[in-house]
Amino acid sequence: MSEVHTRPVPTNFAANALISAEDYERMYRQSVDNPEAFWAQQAKDFLQWDRPFAQVLEEDMYKGHAAWFADGRLNVTVNCIDRHLTTRGEQTAILWEGDDPANSQAISYRILHEKVCRLANLMKSRGVKKGDRICLYMPMIPEAAYAMLACARIGAVHSVVFGGFSPTSLKDRILDSDCRLVITADEAVRGGKRVPLKANVDKALAECPNVHTAIVVKHTGTAVDWDSKRDIWYGDLIPQMEPDCPPEAMGAEDPLFILYTSGSTGKPKGVLHTTAGYLLMATMTFKYTFDYREGEVFWCTADVGWITGHSYIVYGPLCAGATSLMFEGVPTYPDASRFWQVVDKHQVNIFYTAPTAIRALMGAGDDFVKSTKRNSLRLLGTVGEPINPEAWEWYFSVVGDERCPIVDTWWQTETGAHMITPLPGAMPLKPGSATRPFFGVQPALLDSEGQEIIGEGEGSLVIKNSWPSMIRGVYGNRQRMLDTYFSSFPGYYFTGDGARRDGEGDYWITGRIDDVLNVSGHRLGTAEIESALVLHGDTAEAAVVGYPHDIKGQGIYAFVMLKSGCQPSDTLKCELIDLCSKEIGPIAKPDFIQWAPALPKTRSGKIMRRILRKIACNELDNLGDISTLADPSAVDALIDHRENC
Ligand code: WTA
Repeated sequence: MSEVHTRPVPTNFAANALISAEDYERMYRQSVDNPEAFWAQQAKDFLQWDRPFAQVLEEDMYKGHAAWFADGRLNVTVNCIDRHLTTRGEQTAILWEGDDPANSQAISYRILHEKVCRLANLMKSRGVKKGDRICLYMPMIPEAAYAMLACARIGAVHSVVFGGFSPTSLKDRILDSDCRLVITADEAVRGGKRVPLKANVDKALAECPNVHTAIVVKHTGTAVDWDSKRDIWYGDLIPQMEPDCPPEAMGAEDPLFILYTSGSTGKPKGVLHTTAGYLLMATMTFKYTFDYREGEVFWCTADVGWITGHSYIVYGPLCAGATSLMFEGVPTYPDASRFWQVVDKHQVNIFYTAPTAIRALMGAGDDFVKSTKRNSLRLLGTVGEPINPEAWEWYFSVVGDERCPIVDTWWQTETGAHMITPLPGAMPLKPGSATRPFFGVQPALLDSEGQEIIGEGEGSLVIKNSWPSMIRGVYGNRQRMLDTYFSSFPGYYFTGDGARRDGEGDYWITGRIDDVLNVSGHRLGTAEIESALVLHGDTAEAAVVGYPHDIKGQGIYAFVMLKSGCQPSDTLKCELIDLCSKEIGPIAKPDFIQWAPALPKTRSGKIMRRILRKIACNELDNLGDISTLADPSAVDALIDHRENC
C-alpha cells in the first residue's frame, strides 16, 4: 500500500462541494442507522409523486426480495421531462453529437416532451399497453432516448439491446421477454462504419412470429428491405400523432425496464428494474457523485445499450434537469482527439468514460489531448472495470490538468446505480480505488467460509442490505435470480466481484471471481462464448478464460478441442472467430485460440478453469495443485501446445 499516491480533496472542491467529508459521514451514518427515514426524505426531495407513499421498505435478503415506496405512484417521464417545463423548458435536455463532427443537435426539454409524447401515441396506436415489452435496437441518436422515455410514458417496459449484438442475440432477447414491438433504425454509424440494424432486425424477426410492428427511424437513408405488414417509418407517422400524451400513473414497483446482461452460466439474463427506487438512486448518484450543478453539461460516453447509458445518459441526468450529451461516435474518429474536441465544442463540465477508452487514448500519445483546451472540465469519472494507476494518473494529469477529481464508480447492471464511489468533495482519491460506499449501501467482504472479514482484508464482495435500485428479478425466471445473486451467501447480495479493503476502509475492486469476463468494459459470460464455439462441426469441446490485455483490460482466450479426425488450421480459427461474432456480436471474438488435445478436468468431469487461466496468463511455473485432475498429463500437453501456437 505504501506506493499509493493519495490525492487530498482539491481545495476548490472542498470549499464548495455539495457533499463535504462531514456531510458524508453524517448522511452515511443516518442512511444505515435509520434507512427508512433517510430514504423517505430523499424520495420526497428528488422525485415528484402522483400519490405519496406511506410504506418505505419491505425487504428479505434471504429471498432476494425488496419493495421500495410500494404504495406510491409516479411516472418517470413526468419526473424527467414535464416537471422541468415551467422552469427550464427551453434548456437543452439532450445535446447530440453525431459520428460526423459536422452533425450536432440540441433538444430542449420542451421538444423532448413533444417527441416522447408523439412516439408514445404512435406506440399506443399499434396497440401497446402498460406492461408490454418493447425491444429497442438503436444507434446512439436522440430517438433512442425518445423511445425509452416513450415506453416509460405509457408504462411499457423497454428492453434495449446494444446495436453491436448479432441478429441471433437480438432474437434470443426478443423471445425471452416476448417483445411484440421493436424500434430500430435503418443503420447505425460508428467511426465512419455502418452497422445494418434494420437488416439485422429482419434476420432476427424471421424467428419471432409474435412481433407485429417494427418502427424504423431513417438515419442514414440507405435502402432497406420492407415488410409492409410489419414495418412502419417513424418519420412518416410521428408528425401525424398528437403532441401530448397523458402519463400513465405507475406503481413504484411497476417494471421500468429489462436489460440483458451476461452471467457465469447459460444465456444472458433479463435484469429487471422497477420505477421509483431505480429513478431515485440514478438521480441521487448523478447529483452527488458528479457534484452536478444547475446548468452544467454532463457527458457519459457509454452506449444506451448498457446500464451506464440508461442511468447516466437518460434517467439520472434528465430527472435532475441536466444537459446530457449523447455521442454517436467513437473516441478515435476522425482521430484520437475527438473526445477532447467535443469537450471544447460543447463546453462539457463533467466527463464520464471507461478505463479501456482512457488506455487506448493514452497509447495514441499526449499531443491529441494537448492540442485541445479542456478548460470547461471540472470533474472526471470512470466506470466498468478496474482502472490501473498509470491510466488514472494520465487521465488526472494530462486530460484533467491536475485540476479535476476522478470518481471511480463501481456498480453493476444489477445495482442500477453507483454503489461504491468517491464523492469528490468528501473523499481523498486513491488511484485504482473506488473508495467508499454510497449512502445506504453496506458492502462486506466474505472469506471462503462465508464469514465476514473485519477491517483490512480481501474476499468476495457482497452487499448486506437492499438499496432502492436493486435488481428486482430476472425476467421470467425467479429461481435464476435467487441462484445467481442470493444463494452463494444466504442473506447477502453476491456481486460476483472480489475486493480488498485497506486499512483506511477504502475498497479496491479486484475483478470478477465468477466466469464472467470484462472485455473493454463489456460483460461477457465464458459459457456464452463456449456455446458459440461448439456450434462448429469440428469442435468437440471448448473452454474460455480471460487473460490480461493492455487496452481491453481482459482479452478472450479460447481452448478448443477438435473432434477426432479434424485438423487445426488458420481457416478453422477464422471460422470459429466468425461464429462468435455471428452468434453473439463482434465484442465476443476470441483474441487467442489455442488448440487443445484435451481439457484438464477433475475426476467428476469439471473443467479446471483455474489451470486454464494460469496457462492463458503464461504463469506456467505456478499452476497450483493438479493432483485432483483425472489426467494430469492433459496439462503438459496444453503447455506444449501453447508454445507451438
Ligand atoms: C466491473 C457496469 C472495477 C465489475 C456499470 C462489475 C468495475 C461489472 C467498476 C459490472 C469499477 C464496474 N471498478 N470494476 N469502477 N465498475 N466494474 O453490469 O466487475 O456492465 O461486476 O455494469 O463491471 O458490469 P456491468
